[in-house]
Amino acid sequence: MSAATQTMGGITGLETLQMGAARVQVDDKKIINCRADLNQLVPFKYQWAWKKYLDACANHWMPNEINMAADVALWKSLDDLTEDERNIIKRNLGFFATADSLVANNLVLAVYRHITNPECRQYLLRQAFEEALHTHAYQHIIESLGMDEAEIFNMYREIPAVARKAVWSLKYTQSLGDPTFNTGTLENDQRLLRDLIAFYVIFEGIFFYVGFTQVLSMGRRNKMTGTAEQLQYILRDESMHLNFGIDLINQIKIENPQLWTEAFKQEAIKMIHEGVKLEYTYAVDTMPRGILGLNAEMFNDYLHFIANRRCAQIGLPQQFPGAANPFPWMSEIMDLKKEKNFFETRVIEYQTGGTLSWEE
Ligand SMILES: [Fe+2]
Ligand SMILES: [Fe+2]
Repeated sequence: MSAATQTMGGITGLETLQMGAARVQVDDKKIINCRADLNQLVPFKYQWAWKKYLDACANHWMPNEINMAADVALWKSLDDLTEDERNIIKRNLGFFATADSLVANNLVLAVYRHITNPECRQYLLRQAFEEALHTHAYQHIIESLGMDEAEIFNMYREIPAVARKAVWSLKYTQSLGDPTFNTGTLENDQRLLRDLIAFYVIFEGIFFYVGFTQVLSMGRRNKMTGTAEQLQYILRDESMHLNFGIDLINQIKIENPQLWTEAFKQEAIKMIHEGVKLEYTYAVDTMPRGILGLNAEMFNDYLHFIANRRCAQIGLPQQFPGAANPFPWMSEIMDLKKEKNFFETRVIEYQTGGTLSWEE
């Protein structure tokens, strides 16, 4: 679509070149609805976005660099894993194997076009690649363990507790997927913001946490350590995605305070409550009995604790006052540098810059 035919909202970067147009100034830049050339990365306005891009590149890793031999031996053994433990691994691979495709599709097919800032787009491109790596990691685990690939990859439309999370999120991305959709009105800008909250705050910020905690708990008990290490790297990436998303949402709020109405806030709170309920149902489904020192009730507390943080991170009132974190080790585990011997397996140190710190 050319700038000439677009009457509202931002440009996309596909417009016909305007020879000799005024040079881009920092003040021209905006996260959404920007009309300054999107094909010039600099001058930077949002240093946080560029910094996150650089940090993400410094954390590069590849799934096939992680040794899966111990997992293969354990998975093939007849009685070293309980049925409940096998079920947890399979269910989580079932959820995650398609979850990262949903996130990547949302980025590429729905979000990217409407984020009208080159440094944020640079991070989105990096994130999209990381989502591909995550899908690759799950495929690599599934193949290494010799699982029934069709069973695992179809869980998101065969197992209700997995499907419900996918169905919940798809409606937000479908809302933007219409090729005639453009930002530039209050209603449409809120649609974009709603999708960002759905994917960054709830999908990546809540829906991943039962599965990560369960599999990392197994790793802590020296079971499925290769799988746990893969998830540890993924969790590190995901906590950066979440933090980028929170910065993005907050910057959009700063630049467009009219979007953050009382009704919109109530809707965001309702979405977070729905997310917590769906993830708790997932915890119950994957863990009908206590296992590995975990039980579904502990996840109820944990999800309330996480939801409070998510609310605080985007400026909403906490919904579960006093909720405590039953898994403080999960916060520590995100600092991979500190925990690099955690699973006593090989860790490839790509980090070349300063120490990173992540919030969960
Ligand atoms: Fe991911
Ligand atoms: Fe992600």
